[in-house]
Amino acid sequence: MNKLTSHKKLTIIGAGAVGAAAAQWAVSRSSAHEILLVDVVDGVPQGKALDLSQAAPLCGFHGSVKGSSDFADMAGSDVVIVTAGLARKPGMTRDDLLAKNVQIVKSVTEEIVRHAPEACIVVVTNPIDAMVYTAYKTSGLPRNRVVGMAGVLDSARYRTFIAQELGVSASSVSALVMGIHGDHMLPLVRLATVGGVPVTALLSSEKIDEIVHRTQHAGGEIVGLLKTGSAFSTPGLSAVEMAEAILQDQKKVMPCAAWLNGEFGINGVFLGVPVVLGAGGVERILEFQLTEEEKEALAASVKAVQGQVAATGL
Ligand code: LAC
Repeated sequence: MNKLTSHKKLTIIGAGAVGAAAAQWAVSRSSAHEILLVDVVDGVPQGKALDLSQAAPLCGFHGSVKGSSDFADMAGSDVVIVTAGLARKPGMTRDDLLAKNVQIVKSVTEEIVRHAPEACIVVVTNPIDAMVYTAYKTSGLPRNRVVGMAGVLDSARYRTFIAQELGVSASSVSALVMGIHGDHMLPLVRLATVGGVPVTALLSSEKIDEIVHRTQHAGGEIVGLLKTGSAFSTPGLSAVEMAEAILQDQKKVMPCAAWLNGEFGINGVFLGVPVVLGAGGVERILEFQLTEEEKEALAASVKAVQGQVAATGL
């Protein structure tokens, strides 16, 4: 825990597959001194946390990990990750989840504001861009303290597919996916590099198109294989990567769903853009000039998010 100078508390709401994966990554990476898993299904967060607490001697975690069904236990949290909600089944789009999950995210956000009013909220529940809007509107918190996960996951998938195609380490691939967490997401081709070399110099445009398409549908590919749920390991890690940047004031730059106030010419929606994450949450949005084609693609994302937001009724 030497990375952390003062006592930090991370709460994860929802002890389903993504929440439990996030807790496991947080313990294995010593992301916080105190890790709390909360779920309304009594016994599940307690059991999963007890199991994880027993990993401490094996992974060198020196903090505490607890489970609870009482939202009051999240008092003092610095970051709250929200994973509560239904997950996708085959044949379902992320939008099919909207009506149910908006109620869940609304009530969870009310609990966060009541018990952990100082926390930054990282929303993972799908459809993410509408659920982060729900948390923002419900909480009344400033925009820097409410952020959605998705670009980290989508960019990790994009980097992985590029790396696999080239037979190189995925950590050598730098790439950015902007926009909605859905079919209209925008994996930027001209900014993808491999050890600093543009990917456009290394792969044919047909191959790149294939990778872009696979990235846009990567969540669905996993749903199709699992049949009973959706991806959880890398979604959980992506949320922890964001939480850690805030808890440890890392100023890491990663694509996240942030509230836009004119950046990229877009107003009044949450959308995946590159942000600086630090102790202040979303400390800065890194704006840059998009090409006409990219602007058009991003406009399609905005339209899709606005449709979801309208459906929240908020
Ligand atoms: C996915 C879910 C988390 O993309 O939306 O796998």
